[in-house]
Amino acid sequence: MAGSVVLVVGSGGREHSICKQLASSQLVSEIHCSPGNAGTLKFATNHSVSATDVAAMVELATSLGANLVVAGPEAPLCDGLADALSAVNIPCFGPVAKLAHLEGSKLHAKQVMRIAGVPTADFHVLDNDSDIDAALDDFSANPWVVKRDVLAGGKGVVVTSDRAEAKTFITSSIASDGKVLLENFLPGEEASMLVIMDGTDFVTLPCSQDHKRAYDGDLGPNTGGMGAYCPAPVITEQVHQRAIERIVEPMHKYLSSQETPYRGVLFVGLMITKSGDPNVVEFNVRFGDPECQITLPLVSSDLYTLLYSAATDGLHEQETTFHNKQALTVVLTAEGYPASPVKGRLITGLSEETIHTSEGDMWINFAGVGLDENGDYISTGGRVLSCSALAETLEDAKNLAYQLISKIELEGSHYRTDIGHRAL
Ligand code: AMP
Ligand code: GLY
Repeated sequence: MAGSVVLVVGSGGREHSICKQLASSQLVSEIHCSPGNAGTLKFATNHSVSATDVAAMVELATSLGANLVVAGPEAPLCDGLADALSAVNIPCFGPVAKLAHLEGSKLHAKQVMRIAGVPTADFHVLDNDSDIDAALDDFSANPWVVKRDVLAGGKGVVVTSDRAEAKTFITSSIASDGKVLLENFLPGEEASMLVIMDGTDFVTLPCSQDHKRAYDGDLGPNTGGMGAYCPAPVITEQVHQRAIERIVEPMHKYLSSQETPYRGVLFVGLMITKSGDPNVVEFNVRFGDPECQITLPLVSSDLYTLLYSAATDGLHEQETTFHNKQALTVVLTAEGYPASPVKGRLITGLSEETIHTSEGDMWINFAGVGLDENGDYISTGGRVLSCSALAETLEDAKNLAYQLISKIELEGSHYRTDIGHRAL
């Protein structure tokens, strides 16, 4: 495997993190990223193929002689990237389209969970013929959870106690998509569990907790994620054991019984009830962002071996090990995020070595960062970058990550000051 060529698909903080971690593998000789960003550039050769152009991505992988393609985002997987790579015998870390549908369709995910006997909230599927009021009455004890059955880039879910708002979202979703899900609200604490799977085995990575609301105290609008920490103490050994027995094992059994097994990472979004019972809120078929940025650095064994094994049904022959440390990341967002982020502003105060070394306990991952004509860093997206640290304690990791982010200057930018508050 030495001298391996890897192509990483995507352009966010997650992909910067994957490239960075692969760079420390003795087995990898070349890393390519498409389209990448100003951060992946430090570890990889960036290419201009869009993440969603499956045919061109397969052509690129072939021309590079890639030994492995690692899919960052879900969209190319839902569009058949893994299927197309398989046709040209290039291993792909990321599932075939049929299984990527677990993220592409929330209804499909619910149906699979029913078949596999995995705990999740009860639901109604509503369409033009449904009695919407009767369905709302059925779940009226708690806020209503309405989910569109399409990839909606994080904007497909409304959780509200306002009946009129729920009804409006239901009606507009049925108008655009033909149907919509109404779910029973699950009270509890959320956590993210990343499980690497293939047809032979699975490996659970340390569980993390994300902060989805824009402002301190978990207030404000939902975002892609404002920060995260790992491992999350809400996942006690008992909760972990229950999640493995009730969710991961039955899902693995189901997924490995399919014509092509699931080869990649299954992101299990958990809701843990007061009594410590884990329920599935959602599945994603990719690493979480920013969870990836603080989970991969906790893997102490070789990342290429782990990803390549999962792509080629070799997980049962591998042992994956982890650092017994704590990691925390804080996301810097652009002015106006998430509604209408301002782009194109200069970013200063970045220490180069935190971006491009694959060693060290403090690091920066670029998400929406590009280079202007002078070679200076400018913002190109809503979530601009994240500052992370690894330490013996979560408190130390938090202090280091905040030290790093406090030096960065970007006009109008914002970050939460309370990442990790539930654990500290
Ligand atoms: P999803 O895209 O399915 O992960 O939903 C987005 C967010 O809505 C989740 O992260 C939860 O905070 C919330 N949510 C989704 N489903 C439920 C549920 N059944 N009960 C409570 N909250 C939910
Ligand atoms: N941070 C949550 C996600 O990646 O979906």
